[in-house]
Amino acid sequence: MDKLIITGGARLDGEIRISGAKNAALPILAATLLADGPVTVGNLPHLHDITTMIELFGRMGIEPVIDEKLAVEIDPRTIKTLVAPYELVKTMRASILVLGPMVARFGKAEVALPGGCAIGSRPVDLHIRGLEAMGAKIEVEGGYIKAEAPEGGLRGAHFFFDTVSVTGTENIMMAAALAKGRSVLQNAAREPEVVDLANFINAMGGKVQGAGTDTITIDGVERLDSAHYRVMPDRIETGTYLVAAAVTGGRVKVKDTDPTILEAVLEKLKEAGADLTTGEDWIELDMHGKRPKAVNLRTAPYPAFPTDMQAQFISLNAIAEGTGAVIETIFENRFMHVYEMHRMGAQIQVEGNTAIVTGVPALKGAPVMATDLRASASLVLSALVAEGDTLIDRIYHIDRGYECIEEKLQMLGAKIRRVPG
Ligand code: UD1
Repeated sequence: MDKLIITGGARLDGEIRISGAKNAALPILAATLLADGPVTVGNLPHLHDITTMIELFGRMGIEPVIDEKLAVEIDPRTIKTLVAPYELVKTMRASILVLGPMVARFGKAEVALPGGCAIGSRPVDLHIRGLEAMGAKIEVEGGYIKAEAPEGGLRGAHFFFDTVSVTGTENIMMAAALAKGRSVLQNAAREPEVVDLANFINAMGGKVQGAGTDTITIDGVERLDSAHYRVMPDRIETGTYLVAAAVTGGRVKVKDTDPTILEAVLEKLKEAGADLTTGEDWIELDMHGKRPKAVNLRTAPYPAFPTDMQAQFISLNAIAEGTGAVIETIFENRFMHVYEMHRMGAQIQVEGNTAIVTGVPALKGAPVMATDLRASASLVLSALVAEGDTLIDRIYHIDRGYECIEEKLQMLGAKIRRVPG
């Protein structure tokens, strides 16, 4: 298992390019199943989760063609099996995203239940209920969700999400794109990735309106056509590199991104004392050598502060001046990074869903273990400001969500290397 060794203390300074968004690329790849011809998706990040999705397509008999820039051409007409097997689903929950498209387009699907995961129970009841509202017959049997469309295909429906769910909204929106008649999704997720998926469905000839608000209206169409689409930039990767520069008192210019999709994060960075300048597709952060100030924050669905940036801001608070409270409202048990950061000398107390973080002037390098994707990003950030070496184990979690993390950090002047294990 590969490990990362980081020698802390270098002040980051430089420019990097932001990759395509993992959380937009995954639903968009799933939505290619809806098309009645070949579809090309570009700006895909080079990540393990993307490879898993492509492998899943391979298992279903679709052979994606990948060009050197990692644009993928998928022809869903070659599908042979309508099954997403457990071996793949267990490694990536987002595999559930093929459920809606498969039932809508092929009338049938069997997708393994994702099961528990490190950051909480994460049920999929809303995905199931949304499809049932459209007339699908669903049984959960032998660890698989077995879904079948009614005679004549799925029917448009009104569906209210009692919890805001990102992939839940995406799954039902994709299914509704080919259902008969109109669907209205209420209390829908407003995340920018939901908007990117809606734009992709519309690029194939779909009729989706209102994505980005809490009510999405979808008029089902008979068929969706071939399209070329470019995935939006990754707002969580963007935020992570901004925090990386901020914790080191440094400067970074992130390019090929979009400052309008992470306003809550930029606000908190300003509060922490960062000098921020933005252009149409770039953001520059400069701490002018200063130590950040601790911030209070509360995670909530978009446009509020994203849960996927919570761990990184705990790292920021851990070395900041003052004390900050971080409240996690989306996932239970999403503070596992805290216990690893204690090993590096961080002063953090967890009470229920709140972490009270009192900044210390410097953390201390230690061997630590990555537990989930964003938790591992926070360990990298902590290591950048720790005295001495930090050895991070189980970095396959990082590779699921950060493209070339060590190369990008090296370009900014960090002392980081990967040791194969
Ligand atoms: C997506 C993101 C993930 C991010 C999360 C919250 C992708 C591939 N992943 O995950 O990075 O951390 O949004 O912004 O886009 N819930 C239910 N029933 C359901 C579905 C969800 O109760 O059927 C609950 C969950 O337990 C959780 C909350 O809803 O408490 C939000 O989860 P959800 O938005 O569905 O997260 P994901 O879509 O899995």
